[in-house]
Amino acid sequence: MAFLNENYLKLPGSYLFAEIARRVNHFKEENPEADIIRLGIGDVTRPLPQASIEAMHKAVDEMASSDTFRGYGPEQGYAFLVEKIIAHDYSSRGIQLGTDEVFVSDGSKSDVANIQEIFSSDCTVAITDPVYPVYLDTNVMAGRTGTLQEDGRFANVTYLPCNAENNFIPSFPKERVDMIYLCCPNNPTGTTLSKSELKKWVDYAKANKSIILFDSAYESYIREADIPHSIYEIEGAKEVAIEFRSFSKTAGFTGTRCAYTVVPKELMAYTKSGEAHSLNPLWNRRHTTKFNGVPYIIQRGAEAIFSEAGQAQVQETIDYYMENARIIREGLQKMGLSVFGGVNAPYIWLKTPAGIDSWGFFDKLLNEANIVGTPGAGFGPSGEGYFRLTSFGTRENTIRAIERIQTRLKV
Ligand code: MLT
Repeated sequence: MAFLNENYLKLPGSYLFAEIARRVNHFKEENPEADIIRLGIGDVTRPLPQASIEAMHKAVDEMASSDTFRGYGPEQGYAFLVEKIIAHDYSSRGIQLGTDEVFVSDGSKSDVANIQEIFSSDCTVAITDPVYPVYLDTNVMAGRTGTLQEDGRFANVTYLPCNAENNFIPSFPKERVDMIYLCCPNNPTGTTLSKSELKKWVDYAKANKSIILFDSAYESYIREADIPHSIYEIEGAKEVAIEFRSFSKTAGFTGTRCAYTVVPKELMAYTKSGEAHSLNPLWNRRHTTKFNGVPYIIQRGAEAIFSEAGQAQVQETIDYYMENARIIREGLQKMGLSVFGGVNAPYIWLKTPAGIDSWGFFDKLLNEANIVGTPGAGFGPSGEGYFRLTSFGTRENTIRAIERIQTRLKV
């Protein structure tokens, strides 16, 4: 008899965005004429930068000739891309990294999901709440948690509530934890941690021999000076943190797939007998065993965003989304709603009006205004009573969505 991984049975039936898609499809079947505007999943709508398109066309042509054809590449990424990443995203901020500390991959979602494999299944986990569901779900799958309790929390997980009352700044766990997931700029709340706040976490991790899994997929949306773009801007962070970065939201690669993860060599974890081991070779072993690298064509497309033209094109797209964020934020504020985020992040997090719960507001918005958003409760119990809208729509749809919310929503 083949036994299944019973940890999967602890999870709710479907992944958050799959559940939303199911509900929207059902609504569409019942209301085939409805003109639905989707501001739910954080998927981009602008085309790839022209510099990436040109680089990928060129790379396709290279694949057509035996002199320039490429088969398997280095699993960790081609040197031409890794070197550009280090120069542009790190050296420029005074952070020194070796080329063997950067691992190019097909996405931060898979990397944040897979990273937990190199940690013992006994490690304790802290997540901010609300949270990008992948951090938690993958730890449930790995058996690091108990079952889902009536209060919406999994047993044996430390939840760090982030809400309007604490200004979306998580407090330190009461009990010591081994792995801490932090996302800044935050998905879903769109809020950020200042350098001094993040430093406190680095100090906590050092004092407790914990490891911070730092997701900075939305780093390119930072506008304010005091928000760290990389956790390694904090002194000593290389000893305690893994960083995840993505081209998805920076350069429109959600469908093209390219990201990278930094695992510094000085980052240590311990055997049960107390021996320190660098995590870098472990992640390298995992990556080279289970992954065959991002396609050459895609890596050339990613490399091109670091060119002068690529940088200007990327900036234009980010400015476009951030203008959408402003339109949403100010439009909702005009209605008297409490709104957070959207200043250093493409997500707007709003308090649902009149005490309506998150899924109730989801249905209301869909029924009354034909707009899809994401219920805060889908990101964790502290997301209850909140709702997320994304600024990744087209300008036209963003304006129409706000007009509809202002005129059709009965609040
Ligand atoms: C989201 O909507 O939260 C994002 O699409 C998540 C992701 O990038 O996977």
